[in-house]
Amino acid sequence: MKKSKPKSPARGHSEDHLGEAREYWWNDDFLDLLAHRLDLSNCHQLADIGCGKGLMSFRLAPFLAEGAEVYGIDREARYIKAAQQRVKREKTDNKVSFQFAEGDALTLPFEDDSMDLTMCQTLLIHVRDPQAVIAEMKRVTRPGGLVVAFEPNNLAPHLMFDRYIETDYSVEEVLEMVEVRLRCEKGKKRLGEGFSSLGDVLPDLFLKAGLEDQQVWMSDKAMPIIPPYETREMRVRVAQLIEWIENGEGGFGYEENLRYYLAGGGRKDDFASYWYRVSLYKLSMLQKLKSQQFISAGGSVMYIVTGRVT
Ligand SMILES: C[S@@+](CC[C@H](N)C(=O)[O-])C[C@H]1O[C@@H](n2cnc3c(N)ncnc32)[C@H](O)[C@@H]1O
Repeated sequence: MKKSKPKSPARGHSEDHLGEAREYWWNDDFLDLLAHRLDLSNCHQLADIGCGKGLMSFRLAPFLAEGAEVYGIDREARYIKAAQQRVKREKTDNKVSFQFAEGDALTLPFEDDSMDLTMCQTLLIHVRDPQAVIAEMKRVTRPGGLVVAFEPNNLAPHLMFDRYIETDYSVEEVLEMVEVRLRCEKGKKRLGEGFSSLGDVLPDLFLKAGLEDQQVWMSDKAMPIIPPYETREMRVRVAQLIEWIENGEGGFGYEENLRYYLAGGGRKDDFASYWYRVSLYKLSMLQKLKSQQFISAGGSVMYIVTGRVT
């Protein structure tokens, strides 16, 4: 197996997560339902904060009012460039215009009360001060408009099972794994890099931000991998997992996990025994993925939380 790629500044934030597999994050019919719930057909100005390559801007655009304006902000110049390139390929029947620009979520380049809807997807899990970002999203949203966050609980999938044989687990091994994951989460937060399960506490943050009439929903998307991997969606997902394991990306990296674990109060010796078991698991997973034997229901926990500006 290849060694973990060193984190290079040449790679953008979360770059290993922004590939083709992300295009399959939402079920089309669920987006139809969401568009109805969010009344997107009456939305004329939408801002996508921490937009990355603009994925959600492009997914939501077809539901917006005729001639609506979509603004995407991200601090990574390379993603803004990728989003701008994609604009040339995207054609919406409702003549939506897109503007993507570099910027910081804490100081958005928009006037007060200028947006009908201000949203983010998996941004708040990465920021030091999500409350401050939500306050800034609220500032730029007009009275009556909506602030919307799509954020996960990324701890929950660690307590999900793939194969029936795994239901004969060792309680001690599961507890060891859970302890490491909790320490890594804690460490990541202590280092000011965000909290990966922030979705759970969005209602608390929205309430403190003074957002009213909150609604909380969950995505109905599962990301199963079932042999013989017949759909493109599954094959893309499998290819991504193989790449992550081989390159130590997508949360599989030794250095990143150790850094978080130590910051979360863990001891290096304990991490070594955990990582030995992770390495065996990764090897076995890799073999199964490559021989089309890996199977998973692909459960995930993704919240959609909305709050109204008054
Ligand atoms: C996991 S990616 C999500 C991208 C996009 N929302 C999507 O779902 O495809 C997180 C994004 O937040 C951006 N980001 C993180 N902190 C930011 C900040 N303070 N201001 C603006 N963008 C930020 C990163 O550059 C990255 O593109």
